[in-house]
Amino acid sequence: MLLAAIAAVAAGATLFMADQPIAEVADGLAKPRDFGNVANERQRSIAIFKEMGKVLQHPRCVNCHPRSDRPNQGDDQRPHMPPVARGPDGLGMPAMRCTTCHGEKNFSFGGGRGSLPGAESWHLAPRSMAWEGRALGEICEQIKDPQRNGGKSLSELQRHNAEDGLVGWGWEPGDGRSAAPGSQELFGQLTAAWIESGAHCPQ
Ligand code: HEC
Ligand code: HEC
Repeated sequence: MLLAAIAAVAAGATLFMADQPIAEVADGLAKPRDFGNVANERQRSIAIFKEMGKVLQHPRCVNCHPRSDRPNQGDDQRPHMPPVARGPDGLGMPAMRCTTCHGEKNFSFGGGRGSLPGAESWHLAPRSMAWEGRALGEICEQIKDPQRNGGKSLSELQRHNAEDGLVGWGWEPGDGRSAAPGSQELFGQLTAAWIESGAHCPQ
């Protein structure tokens, strides 16, 4: 009992002193309560956002939030093959619509040959939501700015992270692709905790 308590305090202290959460949590993503002992609210908010950054800056998300009009693919974030362009609605050009190839579900090629990703309404994030090549602090400022985030309030942003299907695909990316850390549920909880602590951004 006592040993467990000391271990917990020690773990908490590491978390606090390092000014960022323990990297190696069981499922790859810390929980909101892991930040409970960061007394300063602003610091706590920033630490939580940095944890959210492990998801936001994961290739599964950034590949569809590119800075150009072309998506990227793979963990090395290489340009999408074949070349495709966002088109007027993010769904591709008339002759190369995303949905020509991407269905509503992942399609496995079988035999360890990977898969074609799919989810309902598969399309590219608008230019104002480009994250590729941006620092986490910039991503933070832009996702809470209604001018750039599609007119979302903070609570709508939280719901998007917790429930949106394209976000959820990040944890069910199909054969041959690594999943984002943690779970969508946990990511939604972190987003809520970040907002509750003032939605502060890292520098
Ligand atoms: C298939 C493409 C695709 C994937 C994969 C994807 N997104 Fe998006 N994302 C979009 C589109 C399209 C929008 C705009 C839709 C809207 O506003 O409702 C968007 C909007 C967002 C927004 C709204 C705010 C903003 O400024 O960006 C957030 C937050 C977001 N995505 C998070 C994520 C996260 C986290 C992941 C990975 C776990 C992810 N997305 C994966 C296409 C994608
Ligand atoms: C001609 C077929 C085709 C079209 C059209 C197409 N894609 Fe793809 N896309 C693929 C294939 C195949 C893959 C899987 C490549 C692989 O992983 O080896 C892929 C992979 C992706 C990935 C990578 C996911 C990841 O994280 O690795 C994204 C993002 C993506 N496509 C978005 C789009 C968007 C957005 C559009 C429309 C603007 C689009 N695609 C149009 C065939 C297509």
